[in-house]
Amino acid sequence: MGAIPRLRKNPALATFPWMSSSTVKAPRQRQEELGQFLTPAPVAAFMASLFGPLPETVRLLDAGAGAGALTAAFVSRLIADNEKVQRVEARLYECDPLIQPALTQTMRDCQRACADADIRFSFSIHAADFITEISTRLGGPLFGEARPEFDVAIVNPPYRKISSDSPERRSLHYAGIETSNLYTGFIALIHRLLAPGGQLVAITPRSFCNGPYFRNFREDLLDHVALHRLHVFESRGAAFREDGVLQENIVFHGVRGRKQPARLMVSSSSGKDVGTITASMIPCSEIVHPGDPERFIHIPSEAGHSRAKKVMDTFHANLASLGVQVSTGPVVDFRLKKSVRMEPAKGTVPLIYPCHFNGGSVHWPKANSRKPNAILDNEETRPWLVRSGVYLLTKRFTSKEERRRLVACIFDPAEVEAERIGLENHINYFHANGGGLERNLAYGLFAFLNSTVVDQYFRQFSGHTQVNATDLRALPYPTLRALQTLGRGLTKLDISQEEIDRLVEESIHASQ
Ligand SMILES: C[S@@+](CC[C@H](N)C(=O)[O-])C[C@H]1O[C@@H](n2cnc3c(N)ncnc32)[C@H](O)[C@@H]1O
Repeated sequence: MGAIPRLRKNPALATFPWMSSSTVKAPRQRQEELGQFLTPAPVAAFMASLFGPLPETVRLLDAGAGAGALTAAFVSRLIADNEKVQRVEARLYECDPLIQPALTQTMRDCQRACADADIRFSFSIHAADFITEISTRLGGPLFGEARPEFDVAIVNPPYRKISSDSPERRSLHYAGIETSNLYTGFIALIHRLLAPGGQLVAITPRSFCNGPYFRNFREDLLDHVALHRLHVFESRGAAFREDGVLQENIVFHGVRGRKQPARLMVSSSSGKDVGTITASMIPCSEIVHPGDPERFIHIPSEAGHSRAKKVMDTFHANLASLGVQVSTGPVVDFRLKKSVRMEPAKGTVPLIYPCHFNGGSVHWPKANSRKPNAILDNEETRPWLVRSGVYLLTKRFTSKEERRRLVACIFDPAEVEAERIGLENHINYFHANGGGLERNLAYGLFAFLNSTVVDQYFRQFSGHTQVNATDLRALPYPTLRALQTLGRGLTKLDISQEEIDRLVEESIHASQ
């Protein structure tokens, strides 16, 4: 990894905000609006270390430059590694006037440090909105002539959802890019600005690796950028712990315009300072499965994960072959506000929220619940209710305290009597053509989805706590018979994780 010894000796740099925390730290709300989470120095140095061979003149892009931590780390690497680079032309975009003086100062320090190492360093700071400026150029008639081109981009883009009527979305649309987060907008623009063979190193949330919202982005990225390295920070917030960011982050290194390599290096670390890294070369086909229309990016990391992958690879059924569908709970409570009731009453049916999940089954009604327990069964609500039956329910959102991402429970009509039920929108439910499931199958799915092996597999492609119906459809499943046998072996639902894992392991061995 490129260290940063030369710059650290420079006393001016000792006061850098990214080294000594809060010189330019924005108040929280402003920080969130700007997506301003500065990269800690060890992470920046790690990122800079990932670039492959560089040309003699490096045209460098740092978009959303903050106080310049990433460009400084890149310069430190050049100096420390004594590479052939003779000249750096850095272009930095930063829209926050409060941080720009620190950025200018960092660039001057970089210039001095480079001069001492016989490297010519020039820079231009664009106090502009990167999205608007670049989208306008890319979408405009002068595309080509007015397009800046870079050999290297190093970036920690701001992240924030951008709604479909936001100016950012409109700008990106103008450039032919459809995406719902600022960070994916940045990356999509940046890789378009790279020269063929140009390199990108980015630190971003891991959320783009799966989920339907990022499908367009994944497709665009994987079609234009060859991924050479993926690095996962195992613990949530490890890279940005001080700022309390609770996203799982990844760093990736990609090369513009090349086919995906046969294998790429996947690594992980758990500490804030990058710390001990474990790495292995993984076939690209295991990361992005050939023929997967969703283009999910699976990231195996720990030993358990690779075992989980091996186990899951032995399953060849899918929900369609099991005759099962998964859908999101149809009741959106605020849309049916008038019909929702805190307590059951005449004319109502049970309304099930995640708060009713309890020890593997649905406990209803819930006393002193903050969520409603019931919904009127009337003309307005009827289209959103389902026939009662045995359903497997999973939470769509799990809290970070929860041990597993996938939390499944059984709705049993023998315990909650009703002709129809309401399933709230924070739940996904497994059904057979809109009706209940055969009991043994439901129980088998319950054990399978709650098992550690599925959880570990799931974490490889999900970096956030949301579990979409698409994710559940994409999982491989054991055969119908294997699931029914597993379900028969389950005598009660309120059992320990160890017991679930033992039953699932036994059924895996039996079927092999
Ligand atoms: C996540 S921070 C990273 C800062 C710096 N690159 C680092 O790694 O420490 C993103 C930066 O992008 C800036 N930013 C946010 N939106 C921007 C935009 N539309 N154009 C240019 N800069 C933007 C923020 O002010 C913030 O400084």
